[in-house]
Amino acid sequence: MLHRRNFLKFGSIGAGTFLSGNLFGKGYPAPGKKPLVIATWDAGINANKNAWKVLRSGGRSLDAVEQGVMTTESEISCCVGLGANPDRDGHVTLDASIMDEHGNCGSVAFLERIKHPISVARMVMEKTPHVMLVGEGAQQFALSQGFELESGKLSGDAQQAYDEWLKKSEYKPKVNIENTNGTAFAPRKLSNGAWNHDTIGMLAIDANGNLSGSCTTSGMAFKMRGRVGDSPIIGSGLYVDNEIGAAVSTGLGEEVIKICGCHLVVQLMAAGMSPAEACKAAIAKIISRNGAKAKDLQVAFIALNKKGEFGTHAVQKGFNYAVCYSDDKNELIDSAYTMK
Ligand code: GLY
Repeated sequence: MLHRRNFLKFGSIGAGTFLSGNLFGKGYPAPGKKPLVIATWDAGINANKNAWKVLRSGGRSLDAVEQGVMTTESEISCCVGLGANPDRDGHVTLDASIMDEHGNCGSVAFLERIKHPISVARMVMEKTPHVMLVGEGAQQFALSQGFELESGKLSGDAQQAYDEWLKKSEYKPKVNIENTNGTAFAPRKLSNGAWNHDTIGMLAIDANGNLSGSCTTSGMAFKMRGRVGDSPIIGSGLYVDNEIGAAVSTGLGEEVIKICGCHLVVQLMAAGMSPAEACKAAIAKIISRNGAKAKDLQVAFIALNKKGEFGTHAVQKGFNYAVCYSDDKNELIDSAYTMK
């Protein structure tokens, strides 16, 4: 565990940096609310609505984060659920993870033709002695638990995006960078005109002050077959310590894995940082590891602590997140970021 005297030396930025400037992004509401749910990207607004139904009735944060991201898994989306962009061989493969207030966790990776990977991840956690199931084994387990095998057919939007990608078949992973419309890895414009992004990650604190988190994605569009990102890897794409806080990530998973990103964010909170400071410090580590190449990547973290305070930080502009803490407060907020 990191101690307070050490965290000041962490990365390339000092405490003075953390204490200056707007660390929270535009429209940051009063911190320390409970219950509260926070989720990545604009898809988080709809996801929060279903999570909030659980929280407002006194339900458990674990149920909230499962119900919440199931909403996104059911929507047409470039990067979550069966309507998402496929891998380079034309198959949608899904990754998901979930973690509860007791430190229990479950995940699935490289899962095909199952509508709700987050619920399979929860069953891995609750009904097996394991943490992670992948590929065919994960699918077999899902079927044994009553999940249906869905058609492997791509959604109309995904087929169109895949056909477009096949014309050049370029492999230049760029995740979530705005203003790169037309590149294979830019967010995909949906037929309803909306832009759609990467992973949905969600964190919640319930009325009892218990924390849980969830994360679900199809990963990088047109990825190599078999590629798995950070989302199903506990400690990288998601981490919850009910005594301290929780973190979830979105963006280029390889960079998150390399720093065990979400575990790092939670450890930085344990060392005394606020959620926003911890996210900013973890992003600083990714930027310093990548040097000039950092301008070509996007990663963002969101974090929530035991007091119900939250914060976020991204490598660059364009990341937003949704926060809900009452029946009439479910706001989309632009995240703070480092690269100007
Ligand atoms: N963050 C999602 C992924 O890289 O797969």
